[in-house]
Amino acid sequence: MFNLSGKIALVTGASQGIGEVIAKELASQGATVVCGSLAFTEEDLKRVVAEIQGAGGKADYVLLNMAEGDTVRAAVTTVVERHGGLHILVNNAGITKDKLLIQMKEEEWDAVLNINLKGAFLATQAVAKPMMKQRWGRIINIASVVGQMGNAGQANYVSAKAGLIGLTKTTGRELASRNITCNAVAPGYIATAMTDKLSDEVKESFNKQIPLGRMGTPADIASAVCFLASEEAGYITGCTIPVNGGMLMP
Ligand SMILES: NC(=O)c1ccc[n+]([C@@H]2O[C@H](COP(=O)([O-])OP(=O)(O)OC[C@H]3O[C@@H](n4cnc5c(N)ncnc54)[C@H](OP(=O)(O)O)[C@@H]3O)[C@@H](O)[C@H]2O)c1
Repeated sequence: MFNLSGKIALVTGASQGIGEVIAKELASQGATVVCGSLAFTEEDLKRVVAEIQGAGGKADYVLLNMAEGDTVRAAVTTVVERHGGLHILVNNAGITKDKLLIQMKEEEWDAVLNINLKGAFLATQAVAKPMMKQRWGRIINIASVVGQMGNAGQANYVSAKAGLIGLTKTTGRELASRNITCNAVAPGYIATAMTDKLSDEVKESFNKQIPLGRMGTPADIASAVCFLASEEAGYITGCTIPVNGGMLMP
C-alpha cells in the first residue's frame, strides 16, 4: 500500500479491463483518479467512477480518443482545470487488429500504431508541461511482453509496444531533471476481454509457457503501476517492469 493522497491521476482506457482495475487501485491508495476513454464508453466510465466513489475514493471522467491529438490535449487541460494539477499519467488504452503481416492492411497497421503508440506520445507531451511546473510527475506506459519478444500475427501491435518501450526510455531521459519519471509495465497474458475470446485449448497452451502456471490478473498489473506511481519509486526511470509470470525474463 502506497500513499497517493493529494495526487491527481489520469488513466486512459479506464472503461474496462486492466485500465478499470488500475484506476480503482490508484484511487484505493488515495489518488484522485480521472478515467478517460472514448465517448461511446461514457456509461462504463460513469459506472467505474460511481464504483470508486462508492468505495470511498475520489474519481471523475473525461472523454478522449487517443488517436486524435485535440481530444487528448483537451482532456489533459480539463483535468488540470478541474483538479488543479496532474501528477500521474497511465497510458493504458490499447487495441489489437491481428493478422499475419503479409495479409495486414495499411489501415490495420495505422489504427494500432495511432492508438497504442502515437496516443501515448500525445498524452505524454500534453502532461509534460503541468508536470514540469509541479516538479513532480509519474508517467506509466502499459506495454506488453510481445513488444519484448515478438509475436506472429501481431506486427502492428508488437511494433507499437516495442515503440512504447523506446518512448519510455526517451521520456525518462528528457524529463528526469524535472523530477518526472517515466516507466513501463509489460504484462504477459492477462485474463481480460482481450484474452477471453481465446479457446480453452489456447489458454492451456499459454499456461504451459508460464513458469508461475497461470495467466495474470489486472490486479497484478495494477500493483506494479501503483508502485511506479509512488514516492518510493522515485529513483526508477526509463525501465520496463515485466509482469508476466516468468514467461520472459529479459
Ligand atoms: N489483456 C492482456 O493480456 C494484455 C497483455 C499485454 C498488454 N495489454 C495491454 O494492456 C492495456 C489494456 O488492455 P485490456 O486487456 O484491458 O484491453 P481492453 O479490455 O480492450 O481495454 C482497452 C481500453 O482502451 C480503450 N480504448 C480503445 N481505443 C481507445 C481510443 N482510441 N481512445 C481511448 N481509449 C481507447 C477501450 O475502450 P473501449 O471499451 O471503447 O474499447 C478500453 O477502455 C492495453 O494497452 C493492452 O495492449 C493487455
